[in-house]
Amino acid sequence: MRILVIGSGGREHALIKGLSGHELFVAPGNAGIAQHATCLPCEVDDPSSVVGVARHIEADLVVIGPEIPLVAGVADALREAGFAVFGPNQEAAALEGSKAFAKEVMAAAGVKTAHAQRITDPDQIAEVLDQFGPQFVVKDDGLAGGKGVVVTTDRAVAEEHARAVIAAGNPVLVESFLDGPEVSLFCLVDGETVVPLLPAQDHKRAYDNDEGPNTGGMGAYAPLPWLPEDGVQRIVDEVVKPVAKEMVSRGIPYSGLLYAGLAWGAEGPAVIEFNARFGDPETQAVLALLETPLADVLNATATGTLAQLPALTWRDGAAVTVVLAAENYPASPRTGDVITGDIVDDVIHAGTKRDGEGNYICAGGRVLNVVGVGKDLAQAREDAYRQIEQINLEGSFYRRDIGQRALDGQITV
Ligand code: AMP
Ligand code: GLY
Repeated sequence: MRILVIGSGGREHALIKGLSGHELFVAPGNAGIAQHATCLPCEVDDPSSVVGVARHIEADLVVIGPEIPLVAGVADALREAGFAVFGPNQEAAALEGSKAFAKEVMAAAGVKTAHAQRITDPDQIAEVLDQFGPQFVVKDDGLAGGKGVVVTTDRAVAEEHARAVIAAGNPVLVESFLDGPEVSLFCLVDGETVVPLLPAQDHKRAYDNDEGPNTGGMGAYAPLPWLPEDGVQRIVDEVVKPVAKEMVSRGIPYSGLLYAGLAWGAEGPAVIEFNARFGDPETQAVLALLETPLADVLNATATGTLAQLPALTWRDGAAVTVVLAAENYPASPRTGDVITGDIVDDVIHAGTKRDGEGNYICAGGRVLNVVGVGKDLAQAREDAYRQIEQINLEGSFYRRDIGQRALDGQITV
């Protein structure tokens, strides 16, 4: 198949690796992806630009990586032009693009989630915060790349964030705090057909011990040794299937990947958020364990034949991905420095470019990802950290505790 992947980060590099053996194109891609696929220039949030690239290469399948093109209606335009597309149409992608829409669908489908209140007027902030606490969850109600959320017991910090978001022109959501360890469950969804992938856990805070600001994700592991045996099935039955069914009944069937971000509390799963795409960096760990050819999986979803796909098969063991971040990520990452050391073929590129001499240079906040695989979490961690220690980038940092709490048996449900 001739496959076009849209995007330019670590997730897209992992997708490309999973699709190897096919004729691969990426728009726009990055320096690492260029080793495995033809990179083409493209405005990913412009439907006509993406359709133009898909026509130019006569793609058999287009896989949309990030949320921005989905929310911009790129999947709709591609489908109208006759392409098989992995990724939901604009109205369905609103499950990620509009937190208010996601809450409304969950309420109609009877899915457990946090109680939320929306504020657009700075004079309402104090009054609304009075109804929440002691843990305050304050969110930017727009696409913020995972960086628009502040979770704090400090009311002044909560208030300040709410003011800053409104001052930037966006509504604010204040939410009740959902307790319990987090789960990222990616599900292939084709109308009412739901096929879960392995459960994973992201590490959202910048520094070890979950300290520092929220980021796009600093590392992940899969599967989750602490999740109850029926955990994935419960999430499918209690969350993803009801939502898929609700979308069908509204005449906006979901087609693509639905990412349920959940907290596993005393009563089981509750939804923190939905994303309309694969998660980054969890995808890097999850796909490292998938044995079924990824192209078959994505193509079945894109062509409406997911129900006929044989059960997915997975390699035994565990996978861990660790993100190498640039100095000052997430606030204002330092870019432009040369990356040296042993960037072996297996390393995933998230934000890199090549300079005139062919060196890789840092071009984003999340720069590289290593993926370790092993017979268990301990071995997968060792494999990942052995790789990341070989890479040098001035000022860069990474978390040393990805999967550590799970390994130490400190996560209980
Ligand atoms: P989001 O961008 O909505 O995924 O939020 C980013 C992170 O903030 C999540 O992964 C959680 O760690 C945390 N978070 C968001 N909403 C809540 C909530 N209602 N309760 C507890 N933690 C939350
Ligand atoms: N790993 C978080 C996200 O992709 O949104």
